[in-house]
Amino acid sequence: MIDRGKLKGALARESDRFIEEHPESKEQYRKSRQHLLGGVPMAWMKRWPGPFPLFARSASGAKVIDVDGHSYIDFALGDTGAMTGHAPAYLADAIIDQSQTAITTMMPSQDAIEVARALSDRFELNKWQFALSATDANRFALRLARFVTKRTKILVFDWCYHGTVDETLVTIDEAGRVIPRLGNTTSAFDPAQTTKVVQFNDLVALEEALRSEDVAAVLTEPALTNIGIVLPEDGFHEKLRGLCTKYGTLLIIDETHTICVGPGGYGKQYGLKPDLLTIGKPIGGGIPSAAFGMTGEVATQLEKMMDEDSIDVSGIGGTLTANAFSLRATRATLANSLSKGHYEASIPLARSWADGVREIITRYELDWSVQNLGSRSEYWFCPAPRNGKEAAQAIDPELDRYFHLFALNRSILLTPFHNMALFSPYHTSTDVERHTEVFQDTVESIL
Ligand SMILES: Cc1ncc(COP(=O)(O)O)c(C=O)c1O
Repeated sequence: MIDRGKLKGALARESDRFIEEHPESKEQYRKSRQHLLGGVPMAWMKRWPGPFPLFARSASGAKVIDVDGHSYIDFALGDTGAMTGHAPAYLADAIIDQSQTAITTMMPSQDAIEVARALSDRFELNKWQFALSATDANRFALRLARFVTKRTKILVFDWCYHGTVDETLVTIDEAGRVIPRLGNTTSAFDPAQTTKVVQFNDLVALEEALRSEDVAAVLTEPALTNIGIVLPEDGFHEKLRGLCTKYGTLLIIDETHTICVGPGGYGKQYGLKPDLLTIGKPIGGGIPSAAFGMTGEVATQLEKMMDEDSIDVSGIGGTLTANAFSLRATRATLANSLSKGHYEASIPLARSWADGVREIITRYELDWSVQNLGSRSEYWFCPAPRNGKEAAQAIDPELDRYFHLFALNRSILLTPFHNMALFSPYHTSTDVERHTEVFQDTVESIL
């Protein structure tokens, strides 16, 4: 259906338009290249679709304004970090106050108690610890799972993403060997020694991998969200829980992105029963904050360890972890956002965004698909994938880039490495309609 020649020409035109309309971002990028590696403060910022990244001036609610003064409907929301909406007033008030009270000490603050209580209410897990990123929450949870089970291996699903955790940045080659994932710069060890990988939704392979009883933990998102949205099939979670219990493996559920389903994430909504749960990104409203929770049973085994003199070098934590400033931001966020009302406003918008895209896919008889998961929706240039491998095989970088750039040039930001839209309560139905219109124009321009 897609005319690739037309696509190339159209991409070049959109690229020219981008350059012409963003002189100030271009200038900032020129300056950036003098002292920032690759001209960006963080490698993945190279993944924006234009020839140089946009530089942000400000962000508020569901809008971002760039240094050239263009205003965008922001469906990226800091890749979930700003799922609460950018810069909400309650957060500004809390952090201004906290910045004049205490930022970091070596002591617990009372906010830690309130945050742990709020997390327990939401996720129905007994005890909590903190981290400053979801990556670290996962790293710490895995380490503790190994400690509790006295096993060394972990299991993840192919094309998962749990942050920059070495043992999880893996995939499997054609011969079924676990190898570092493409793009994983260098692995300090052979990941086949640490990690087993099976396809999401493949319960037979999962049981085969757990049977040898050497796997400390399965770490998974309840639905994959980082290779597009891949939903669990009926009965998958029940069986996954059962197999973990049967083979003495701990189940760690990463709710960092699936908090888009409701106040207690996917797990609360669908009755999952993890042994440990990790979460980061939006819980501090964009201020670095993450947490991991555990059942009373796991906590009992770990609390013995907490009294040891060498606990400071346990490999868990960091000097600034659980600092007073991030905990205050987290307390304010959990008290004011990601609430029932938040989802009542944002989920219908995400659904109607998906309906709009679906309608156009059907109208033009494309074999594409669109998935919805709570306040998050995402389209694919293929039928809905069943697992990470199918999803990865269907990636079309040229089309991705074109759709993103076409949208960006018309004031819509999509998350750079996804065809994803995430909704906050600040988005409106006009934002959805605008996206549907632009999506249709994008499709028409390359048929
Ligand atoms: C499910 C999941 N877990 C963990 C992470 C890591 O988050 P961070 O980069 O904030 O550490 C991500 C990042 O995209 C994620 O999607």
